[in-house]
Amino acid sequence: MEFQKILEKRKSTRKYIADKKVSPEIIHEMLSAATLAPSWKNSQTARYYVITSDDMLSKVKEQALPPFNANNTKDAPVLIVTSYVKNRSGFEKDGTPSNELGNQWGAYDLGLHNANLILKAAELGLDTLIMGIRNAEKLYEILGISRDETIVSVIAAGYGDYDNERPKRKTPEDIAKFF
Ligand SMILES: Cc1cc2nc3c(=O)[nH]c(=O)nc-3n(C[C@H](O)[C@H](O)[C@H](O)COP(=O)(O)O)c2cc1C
Repeated sequence: MEFQKILEKRKSTRKYIADKKVSPEIIHEMLSAATLAPSWKNSQTARYYVITSDDMLSKVKEQALPPFNANNTKDAPVLIVTSYVKNRSGFEKDGTPSNELGNQWGAYDLGLHNANLILKAAELGLDTLIMGIRNAEKLYEILGISRDETIVSVIAAGYGDYDNERPKRKTPEDIAKFF
């Protein structure tokens, strides 16, 4: 699919077809696309926790998502918890931050990875929802994620059950100054 078409096709989906699973091959393709993203000194600190089993999906939706996001993703067959390894991206070898942004570079790199992941999902005919409103403490606990990592978003993926409108966007003139 042409890149522009993928950009226009992707939108947040908050209702999924319950019995339409996502194949492991498709999940692998999404993760492979994420790995192609650039990162600080190629540090590649993005990490993914892919949940597809019914019991773990229920547990995470019930315990680690607020009710409105649990409802948004009620029938989503895949949840991907995304994190980054702390103190590497944006840091020198001796452990000092390279500039004032410190670990924000880890979040920056993860965002680039996640953009690849959701755009690849769109190309493959899937729909996604990034969720920043989630209970990180519960996710550390349920998934046994190391405290060396910062949990960022949970991304739901599946096949959408309706064709919602994409919210309006600013124009290039609204967001850019030209010199
Ligand atoms: C970092 C981030 C966090 C978000 N968190 C949530 C969330 O917790 N729940 C939700 O329903 N949507 C969430 N969204 C989706 C945004 O509301 C959505 O991307 C935005 O309204 C633009 O719509 P579009 O994705 O359809 O283009 C989040 C998006 C981003 C990028």
